Amino acid sequence: MKTSVVEVLNNETLLLQEISLKGWVRTFRSNRFIALNDGSTIKNIQCVLDFENTPEETLKRINTGAAIAVKGTLTESQGRGQSVEVQVSEIEVLGDSNPDEYPIQPKKHSFEFLRENAHLRMRTNTFSAVMRVRSKLSFAVHQYFQERDFNYVHTPIITGSDAEGAGEMFRVTNFKDNEAPIDENGNIDYSKDFFGKETNLTVSGQLEAETFAMSLGKAYTFGPTFRAENSNTTRHLAEFWMIEPEVAFMDLDGNMDLAEDFIKYVINSILVSCKDDLAFLDQRLTQEEKSKPQAQRSEMSLLEKLKFVVDNNFKRVTYTEAIDILRNSKPNKKKKFQFPINEWGADLQSEHERFLVEKHFKCPVILFDYPANIKAFYMRLNDDGKTVRAMDVLFPGIGEIVGGSQREERYDVLVEKMKALDIPEEDLWWYLDLRKFGTAVHSGFGLGFERLVQFATGMSNIRDVIPFPRTPQNAEF
Ligand code: 4AD
Ligand code: MG
Repeated sequence: MKTSVVEVLNNETLLLQEISLKGWVRTFRSNRFIALNDGSTIKNIQCVLDFENTPEETLKRINTGAAIAVKGTLTESQGRGQSVEVQVSEIEVLGDSNPDEYPIQPKKHSFEFLRENAHLRMRTNTFSAVMRVRSKLSFAVHQYFQERDFNYVHTPIITGSDAEGAGEMFRVTNFKDNEAPIDENGNIDYSKDFFGKETNLTVSGQLEAETFAMSLGKAYTFGPTFRAENSNTTRHLAEFWMIEPEVAFMDLDGNMDLAEDFIKYVINSILVSCKDDLAFLDQRLTQEEKSKPQAQRSEMSLLEKLKFVVDNNFKRVTYTEAIDILRNSKPNKKKKFQFPINEWGADLQSEHERFLVEKHFKCPVILFDYPANIKAFYMRLNDDGKTVRAMDVLFPGIGEIVGGSQREERYDVLVEKMKALDIPEEDLWWYLDLRKFGTAVHSGFGLGFERLVQFATGMSNIRDVIPFPRTPQNAEF
């Protein structure tokens, strides 16, 4: 019976039974002990060879990275470090791994090196743990919404509209190099392109998700989104996954409640489903923190941080209150911020967000009611005429993890706003129709999935929580 390592470790009835396993060699020592990993768990299983009865030829082929099949009896382990082991009766090398060429040796590799070997890095403890947590988190996302009767909507990836109005889009065209037709104004004539118009990869599924909120009531998207912003930071990807719920008849308060409840649910769910991986990642982070100067070390371990988020209320603060706090803060007065905060209306940078979360409130923060002119066109204008019903959820170590808002449901106000921002009505006629026919208060948000995985795993670089990161100058694999 072929089993997986996770089954073997969790199923006591297999003790003294004949089992069969397939996986990859992590280490092989004393010509006798194989640490086998099959990806089903962070834990290896020790396979003990009867080396006198194993051909020399075979022993030579048991190298780190080789794929093997073993058969044998599961016994209690004599050695330390594991409770059970396999007394191997049969071994077959299924796929060799040349030790002089295999990049993933049993030693500590830098994350930079492993990024260059992203096709193999899931064979390390850290990346296998991160990717298992990522998988469980995405399942929890669907579970949360499905249990609450949200409809999963597949919004388009190719789109003619710029949802965020930031112009950071990747063009989608079928024109061949140097063969794009030119119109009478000397511009590329996209009316002759595949879709008969300019199209791009979407930056957000929100606008289309709104059509589902205004018909099915509760909807969510969870798909890839693309941004051509040239930011080489530890928190930005050119291709990332976003979760976007959208709900009819829900205002900004409901939206904040939803975001907080949702995040707590998914974090709590991996605390239950990913115990071994999180324990490993917790240790890893603690080691990493030790190499930092005392002042920069986190006060909490990874597991403590995750539990803290689940157990505590997020602090809700208006943008205006936040500006007052920042203006009077020590780093602002001592000119320590790269972007000093002088007046109301300033856009908040990650350094400000992190000050509020990590130094001032020391808990996740939801900022709301932002100035209209630093937020997207679709956000509902407040009665003061200068702020909008926007909210950002800010997290320790991450900064912004969620951006959302109550949407402008008033046709006239929305049209005015689009005019002021030069957004052509004819591009978004269908979006405006939602305000013409049965309009209603509605709200939603977008959560950057990789930022959530970063928080959940304690990985400091966003490139290390997505299998194959796309960033400026990098689309390998
Ligand atoms: O704040 P953003 O731009 O909001 C929207 O796109 C809205 N349409 C969402 C909505 O209301 N339905 O992006 C939402 C989140 C951010 O808070 C951040 O977590 C993540 O998406 N994000 C990125 N993640 C990785 N790389 C990037 N370049 C990201 N840009 C945004
Ligand atoms: Mg945002």
